[in-house]
Amino acid sequence: KSGAADLGGFPHFMLKEIFEQPQALRDTMRGRLVLDEGTVRFGGLKSFEERLRSLDAVTLVGMGTAGFTWLAGEYAIEELAGIPTKREVASEFAFRRSAQSKQGCLIAVSQSGETADTLNAIREAKRRGMLTLGIVNVTGSSIAREVDAGIYNHVGPETAVASTKASVSQVLLQMMFALYLARMRGLSKSEGQTLIKEMQKLPTYAEKILASAGDIKRLAKKYKKTENFFCLGRKYNVSSALEGALKLKECSYIHVEGGNIAELKHGPISLIDKNFPSIVIAPKDSMYEKNKSSIQEIKARKGLVIAITTEGNKELAKIADTVLYIPKTLEMLTPILAFIPMQLFAYYLAVERGNDVDKPRNLAKSVTVE
Ligand code: M6R
Repeated sequence: KSGAADLGGFPHFMLKEIFEQPQALRDTMRGRLVLDEGTVRFGGLKSFEERLRSLDAVTLVGMGTAGFTWLAGEYAIEELAGIPTKREVASEFAFRRSAQSKQGCLIAVSQSGETADTLNAIREAKRRGMLTLGIVNVTGSSIAREVDAGIYNHVGPETAVASTKASVSQVLLQMMFALYLARMRGLSKSEGQTLIKEMQKLPTYAEKILASAGDIKRLAKKYKKTENFFCLGRKYNVSSALEGALKLKECSYIHVEGGNIAELKHGPISLIDKNFPSIVIAPKDSMYEKNKSSIQEIKARKGLVIAITTEGNKELAKIADTVLYIPKTLEMLTPILAFIPMQLFAYYLAVERGNDVDKPRNLAKSVTVE
């Protein structure tokens, strides 16, 4: 049983694990980034290198948070390596007659390595003759043993039911895997080096965001009675939007709809009024102008907006009600940083509302039934 000593001075495991993220990111990268060659090395994949070189399709599966991280992975593998990639909720994989390539692989993402739906997808993929890979945190877990080869997160035990440090590591590993595949397929060394140099800065960037936890705590006090939120983004940050919505739901018990902000005008915008705030992830990237105009549409309907944008971007402060900042990084790495303020917001809302933060009602750390 865990006690005060394991909490290391933090009031809850969730907060402790949120603050462990700079280290978790370092541990995820340790010994794997090869700056000189602009590539990534994964010990566990070594004997599958030939097969991975001729890979022609990737399917990413997972559930919950692990599942939402593959949204970012899907974009990155296609953008960097040019391999057709699709994501699928793990529970559906075995029950869907999807067209699979024998040269394709299935990558299962799971913190615990015990999620029954994900395990089931791996077994089905094996029946279909696919190569199966895992991105798993718990060594020796069922999924780690079941897959042909795997990549461990190496972020240490995650005790709080709400996943935090494992999730940022899952996104980072998918970006690293995308780079690994891309360098086998013609991405230049210098492009690889640029990406690696940015990855190496992520722990320091995460520290910077954590230093603003006090601001997010105050924000949670302000919004503690809110009963509905939207959590929205585009492209890589649809992943952040869905993950932010899930974190808020499971910890604060507030109803949150997460998704692609472009969908808003096709229906959900009818919900917006002064009591239905939106969190919008809008870094200064290729989707910024589109996100900005969506924020303006929300404001025109009297909706409150909490925007998450890039440091130094003063413009949104004039439009949104509150702005939270993340350091400037490459577009594909932004979810790793954008997850953090939303984890903190979910945590402080849960505390404000008197919830059992580390063990939210009705939830288990690993879901071992289908
Ligand atoms: O252990 P796994 O990563 O396979 O778990 C998958 C989900 O059950 C898990 O991410 C769940 O959504 C968490 N409670 C999210 O915080």
